[in-house]
This record gives sequence, C-alpha cells and structure tokens, in this order.
Amino acid sequence: MYPEDEIARRVTAMGEEITAAYPADEPLLILGLLKGSFIFLADLVRKIARPLHVDFLVVSSYGSGTVTSGEIRLLYDPEASFEGQHVLLVEDIIDSGTTLNRLVPLLEGRRPKSLELCTLLHKRIARGLVKEPRWVGFDAPGEFLIGYGLDHSEDYRNLPFIASLAVDGSAEGSTNA
Ligand code: IMP
Ligand code: MG
Repeated sequence: MYPEDEIARRVTAMGEEITAAYPADEPLLILGLLKGSFIFLADLVRKIARPLHVDFLVVSSYGSGTVTSGEIRLLYDPEASFEGQHVLLVEDIIDSGTTLNRLVPLLEGRRPKSLELCTLLHKRIARGLVKEPRWVGFDAPGEFLIGYGLDHSEDYRNLPFIASLAVDGSAEGSTNA
C-alpha cells in the first residue's frame, strides 16, 4: 500500500517540517509510542536537523483481534517531568483514537512547554479526538495495516513497506501497540 521509497520521501518531508517548527535553542523531546512507532521514529529523528532527546512509552491495548479495545495499559513510562520541554509524541497509526485520548491528558499533566502529535498513518475514523495530530504521514484506509513497525500478533513489523492484511475485524490474534 505504501512502498519503501514513498515512505522515505514522506518521512524526510515531515522531518524538515518538524525541524522548522521548533526554535533550535529550546529543548525538544521526541516521545515514541512502542512498539509500533520504532521504525518510523528511528527514520524520522534522523531527518530532524536539530538537537533533541528521545524517550519511549510502552502502551498495550487490552484484548485481541484486529479491532482495538477501549482500555490501555502503560507498561513503560519514563515518568519524567516535561517542564520546559517541547514534547512531540510519535505514533504509528491512529485508529479508534483511544490510545491518544488516554495519553494526551496524562502527558499534558506533566506540564510540557508544548505537546504535539505526529503519526505516520491516520485512519480518520476516530470520533472526538482530544487532540488532532499536527503532522500526519498518510491518510490511511480503514483496513488493518502491517509492516514498517506495524504488527499483527507481533508478526510483520520488519517489512520495509506497509501492506494491508485485507482481512476483516474478526481475525484471530492480538494487537500489541
Ligand atoms: P487506537 O485505536 O487509535 O487506540 O490504536 C491503538 C494502536 O492499535 C495503534 O497505535 C497501533 O499500535 C494499533 N493499531 C491500530 N490500527 C492498526 C493497524 O491497522 N495495524 C496495526 N496496528 C494497528
Ligand atoms: Mg502503536
């Protein structure tokens, strides 16, 4: 669905936009949501031409199947204060929006200088997102996507491109963020 070269071009453009968006002398923390964002984040930070720090959050959705459930768990959390830092939260894909709707208030409570969202893929089906992402790689179809970090039951993360699994929401297996 998204070949390797098309992803690379888009990630380069996003990195340039992000570079331009933040004053170069103000602290910037890139906060990746594991596991799905790990490849996107690794490529993206190398296209951001300014000093920055990187940390991660591990969030897991409860339940199984290719439909995201309504609850999330924080499995790893740097628990740092974000005071004085610009925080850019990097997601692989926004589907129902549940993950972001839970995380954004939590992160805003840590008083970052600013909080923005960057997602590689946006299915545009989320209702009532507490915050719209400032940077979106691609508007994605309402299909289950795999590759470039995205998994189905932990498989396929290493594909260098993004493909559709082309199954409906009743497929077996768990989705681990
Ligand atoms: P949410 O429904 O927006 O909360 O999505 C939560 C997480 O589910 C995302 O960060 C992904 O890790 C995972 N997810 C949602 N849609 C897909 C998909 O199409 N393929 C792979 N993972 C997905
Ligand atoms: Mg994810």
